[in-house]
Amino acid sequence: MSEVAKQMAVPAEVTPNKVVPYAVLMELSHRCPLQCPYCTNPIDLERASGELTTEEWKRVMDEAVDMGVLHVHFSGGEPTVRKDLEELIEHAAKLGLYSNLITSGVLLNEARVQCFAEFGLDHVQISFQDTTSEVGDWVAGYDGAHEKKQQVARWVRDVGMPLTVNAVMHRHNLHHLEEMIQMAVDLDAERIEVAQVQYYAWAFRNRIAFLPTREQLDKAVEIVEEARKRLKGVLAFDFVVPDYYAQRPKSCMGGWGRQFINISPSGKVLPCHAAEVLPDLEFDSVHQKPLGWIWENSEAFEHFRGTTWMPEPCQSCDRKEIDWGGCRCQAYMLTGNAAATDPTCVLSPDRAVLDEPLAAVGGESPDFIYRRYGG
Ligand code: SF4
Ligand code: FES
Repeated sequence: MSEVAKQMAVPAEVTPNKVVPYAVLMELSHRCPLQCPYCTNPIDLERASGELTTEEWKRVMDEAVDMGVLHVHFSGGEPTVRKDLEELIEHAAKLGLYSNLITSGVLLNEARVQCFAEFGLDHVQISFQDTTSEVGDWVAGYDGAHEKKQQVARWVRDVGMPLTVNAVMHRHNLHHLEEMIQMAVDLDAERIEVAQVQYYAWAFRNRIAFLPTREQLDKAVEIVEEARKRLKGVLAFDFVVPDYYAQRPKSCMGGWGRQFINISPSGKVLPCHAAEVLPDLEFDSVHQKPLGWIWENSEAFEHFRGTTWMPEPCQSCDRKEIDWGGCRCQAYMLTGNAAATDPTCVLSPDRAVLDEPLAAVGGESPDFIYRRYGG
């Protein structure tokens, strides 16, 4: 049992009949040299001075393992800003956690990539903004980003770590999708995530600038289907249709409080990366409570867990234990009601809220509002 569990005199263990999360995403820092206008970090970015210490992050991993978690993601912001990342990787490896580093790569050098491999990092995911420096650096708001990412991807493969290319696609780069897939093959990636921009946080502010046209989307589906067949055994694909064009919502986070824990740099424990937009929810911190206790008992996790909170039409829908009513954060951002059916479902009574943004698609693209980190 961890020190915090002892101090709080509550057990860190999870009772047997509860679902166990399989992954914890640790946002090590919100600091980042890039300024992507679709960043999923909150608008109010957390400051470096409030970040958990090395020992606190290690204790979080200990508690996650006690709960049965198998998988840890080191994320941010940019997680490589943390000088202790090697130590955290080593600790994850010691605990038997499968570790994934989600990075832009721009702060890395070859020696550090090698070090990550030696300390036991299992997997690296690098996001690409485009296949060209012109578009890639413009979207990232950082000169030289695209070239550096390609270099880091090669270093990752040179030391034998598996690589996922996270291809963030939208109106300004979908015409490069074929080249993006080929770039992933050339970089010897194991997997490509053709990740459409999700409209939360900074991306919600920029959604008119990013929303693709229906024609772009149809073409993208064709390209992915053809490439998936052609590259079977060479490159694995993840592809999700942009929410606003979907007929049914995605199963966000695999269901609220069912599979996933997100921990902010200062230790707030969240059911998803965007949960802090929801009003009236209190998020517990690893400073005060053990992770296992928070997962089982915190008001924030209990609030939308399962199906009892659901309104109609979800309540009597045969998909309610498939998509879990879609995304709570999206429902709130689009309707002002976090308990509403996700309007990206065609059965939602609020579906018309998508009419306005979709009507603006294909018109003049507004300038990006770039992510800004204040220090
Ligand atoms: Fe999912 Fe609710 Fe739509 Fe059914 S009505 S498909 S449960 S969002
Ligand atoms: Fe929060 Fe979907 S992003 S529930």
